[in-house]
Amino acid sequence: MSEAPAIVATDVSRTYELDGVSVPALRGVSFTVEADDYVAIVGTSGSGKSTLMHLLGGLDRPTGGTLVIGGRDVATLSPPEMARLRNETIGFVFQSFHLLSRTTARDNVALPLVYRGIGRRERRARAAAMLERVGLAHRMDHRPNQMSGGEQQRVAIARALVTGPSVLLADEPTGNLDSTTGQSVLALLESLNDEGVAIVLVTHDREVAARAHRQIVMRDGLIVSPAPVTGEEGAA
Ligand SMILES: Nc1ncnc2c1ncn2[C@@H]1O[C@H](COP(=O)(O)OP(=O)(O)OP(=O)(O)O)[C@@H](O)[C@H]1O
Ligand SMILES: [Mg+2]
Repeated sequence: MSEAPAIVATDVSRTYELDGVSVPALRGVSFTVEADDYVAIVGTSGSGKSTLMHLLGGLDRPTGGTLVIGGRDVATLSPPEMARLRNETIGFVFQSFHLLSRTTARDNVALPLVYRGIGRRERRARAAAMLERVGLAHRMDHRPNQMSGGEQQRVAIARALVTGPSVLLADEPTGNLDSTTGQSVLALLESLNDEGVAIVLVTHDREVAARAHRQIVMRDGLIVSPAPVTGEEGAA
């Protein structure tokens, strides 16, 4: 309980500039990920869920507001410092996997360990153990284009977990899985949470969201539920 929060976003905004047009994808979001959290982010397509996840994971920087990851204000960090903080703290499962297509499952999973300076043998052993944990022991030497969508999703999850992150951010981690495989991925996330890993996931699936300990709902670049505390009455 007294443990410091994993991530604190305060009035964070993110505006994309696209062909001279400003797209306000996030319009002032305050959100704390506690060290032992298990939270689901839900909301309509385009409401800003992935944009928020990218910020929480230190993959992108806010255009306004303050973002503190692992006690460090990202505005004060250089790109290499940010990359290091990310590698040490965060596991990220992308909505679109982002696997290297010409690299085996095992080497995809081992890749984050390269940046830790861990030797090849140890990297391959850890990657194999993690692939086993997501039920892919029999697909280690397959490349992503030789695997189903659900298998690729599990490789992406294994890659996010191989560094032993304190926060796992997963954008639609069960979106490509049949219900049995989806259940086993959720069980894996929940056992990690029991071991003290904070879990933030985005989902369109009500049942998946309901298993989290809390939910936040996004609409139009804002958190609409639970209602934000503004300190101003009727700031609608
Ligand atoms: N790189 C970008 N450049 C310009 N606009 C973007 C970019 N990425 C996202 N957007 C816009 O920002 C808004 C929020 O996008 P985001 O991907 O965060 O939505 P989402 O809630 O994750 O949606 P989905 O459920 O479909 O994944 C959308 O209107 C989207 O078109
Ligand atoms: Mg998205």
